Amino acid sequence: MAKPLLSVLLISATLFAQHTAPPLRELAESRGMRIGAAVNPGALKNEAAYAGALAREFNQLEPENAAKFGPIHPQQDTYNFDPVDLQVAFAKAHQMAVRGHTLVWHNQNPAWLTGGTFTPVQLSEILQKHIQAVVGRYAGQIYAWDVVNEALNDDGTLRKTIWSGSPGYIEQAFRWARAADPKALLFYNDFGAEGINAKSDAIYQMAKDFKTRGVPIDGIGLQMHLTSRPVPIAGMEANIQRITDLGLQVQYTELDVRLPVESGKAADDALATQAGIYHDVVALCVKFKLCTAIQTWGFTDKYSWIPGRFRGMGAALVFDADYQSKAAYRSIASALTGERPNTR
Ligand code: G3I
Repeated sequence: MAKPLLSVLLISATLFAQHTAPPLRELAESRGMRIGAAVNPGALKNEAAYAGALAREFNQLEPENAAKFGPIHPQQDTYNFDPVDLQVAFAKAHQMAVRGHTLVWHNQNPAWLTGGTFTPVQLSEILQKHIQAVVGRYAGQIYAWDVVNEALNDDGTLRKTIWSGSPGYIEQAFRWARAADPKALLFYNDFGAEGINAKSDAIYQMAKDFKTRGVPIDGIGLQMHLTSRPVPIAGMEANIQRITDLGLQVQYTELDVRLPVESGKAADDALATQAGIYHDVVALCVKFKLCTAIQTWGFTDKYSWIPGRFRGMGAALVFDADYQSKAAYRSIASALTGERPNTR
């Protein structure tokens, strides 16, 4: 008889604790930081639990796909702003900031663009118009843009894409974005460039060159798609240090920590390792005044790109598929409340 009663009490206590513990956004706000999540628009519209958790826990959101070139500009003369408008309205209603992702990428481009026979000059004109239209529409509503996403190879060379035939396209994109919304913060965003390596060296050199020549750039987005392997914290710290020494912001833009799963569930020890990694990377950001936002790529394991991309992997986020917070959630909270103030 005692056992069920104890379980009920424990469950109630857990629910009570979840309900009364300050949400992540409150902890982040007390640090002057943003904590964000990439948004799945279907879930936002149709699931109260999804919308409730998003608004309760986060003070920033970012459309996961809806603002990319293909989804937002499906025909040469047609824009599809509605899904982004909805997310911007949700953010406004819940006092959340919106990050924009992304203006220039080699992926998720529309067929009219990839299948066209445009000259480099025509492609530049298309890109300029696109940036004017999209950034201009959300001027004053989207506070930061990933202007260019993943333009470099792992060895630091320029990735060959539809855009790379137009010399200087990266800096042009930044200039056009600044012209379209002088107040928006402009980021270069990439993956695998968290620590010190050939790609992060190239990003650093590009950003330094942009700062020297007055190309408008405000920050570097570190995507942070991590695994349960040990994280090179010292290298990441050195990288954030050198970027912020340029006066640029750093934001974690797509944080997740994927784990091996069976039927969607990860082992307890893997979840504990994951919690440690979330703690350490968040605590690292907290050390830097110019590390201004931490954003996860989704927030519930119910909606995450991981299982679709990495077979046998999942459980990468801080809420499980039933919207219960995981150990990783609590470790973000404890890193945000950690004693170390912004010292750098
Ligand atoms: O929109 C179509 C929909 O009409 C169709 O019914 C459905 C059928 O599969 O596909 C939908 O498009 C999918 C889209 O996500 C929206 O769900 C695409 O097939 C799918 O490829 C796309 O995946 C996205 C991926 O970028 C594309 O490369 C993921 O959701 C998104 O999480 C992922 O995000 C990227 C960042 O933008 C950049 N950094 C890496 C990160 C992970 O790959």
